[in-house]
Amino acid sequence: MVDSSWKLDEKITDLLSPFEQDFLRTELGRSLEYYRRRLKKIGFEGKDRVLDAACGMGQWSLALATLNSSVIGLDQAMPRLCVANELKKANHADNLQIKYGDFHHLPLETGSLEAVFCNIALMYGRIEEVLAEFSRVLKKGGEMYVNAAGYGYYLDLVVSRGLANKDIRLAKLGIKIIVSSLLGGKKDVAVSAAGFRAMIEKAGFKIKDFGLEGELTGDPIYKKEYKGLPCIFETVAVKL
Ligand SMILES: C[S@@+](CC[C@H](N)C(=O)[O-])C[C@H]1O[C@@H](n2cnc3c(N)ncnc32)[C@H](O)[C@@H]1O
Repeated sequence: MVDSSWKLDEKITDLLSPFEQDFLRTELGRSLEYYRRRLKKIGFEGKDRVLDAACGMGQWSLALATLNSSVIGLDQAMPRLCVANELKKANHADNLQIKYGDFHHLPLETGSLEAVFCNIALMYGRIEEVLAEFSRVLKKGGEMYVNAAGYGYYLDLVVSRGLANKDIRLAKLGIKIIVSSLLGGKKDVAVSAAGFRAMIEKAGFKIKDFGLEGELTGDPIYKKEYKGLPCIFETVAVKL
């Protein structure tokens, strides 16, 4: 069920695929206040120009728009951008701009943003290139929140979500990602804490805070670890 705080006309779900309907009900099943609370915990409020990179259906973008002067939500999945646009309209969020784009090549000027937020998306891109692009568009002293999946997330995908559910497609996907990560792949890979930290620093950031998902933002969604391996890392870093 979609939480009433989003003011979304649920008829929009009829236009989505079953997979996207599930995604919408999960993400918007949590209230707007839930997302605002997590953003406040990392100080993503009172900022001038903020990007929600790979914004999906825009629930974080709208929460950011209630806390900051102006926000851009960008993604490359049109059905998700349509939902984000509906959220914007339903909530009269005139300070929120929904944009189509690829986070490897942001349609934004160099040094034009005060903050970049990117939730559960970095690992779908070529991580180092995306981090360099976030660094490019941020002003000096600007802040970035990003998270990325560790090996525990993908091992969990293989064992408990894949094999235990007889979902061979998921199990194969998890195995492919683990193998590709161990072989030094650049995209669709798991990160280690040290590797992720090194990539962030290489892109021109100083790490302000680093932990497992929920340790910085509160109210975690994901497991902390699986079989002793970390699932999702999160960090706030400052552009040098
Ligand atoms: C798991 S979803 C997370 C969406 C949103 N950040 C959230 O927290 O709900 C990952 C998103 O990354 C987007 N994405 C993947 N590759 C992208 C790219 N190259 N440029 C922009 N968005 C991308 C997908 O379209 C998808 O909406």
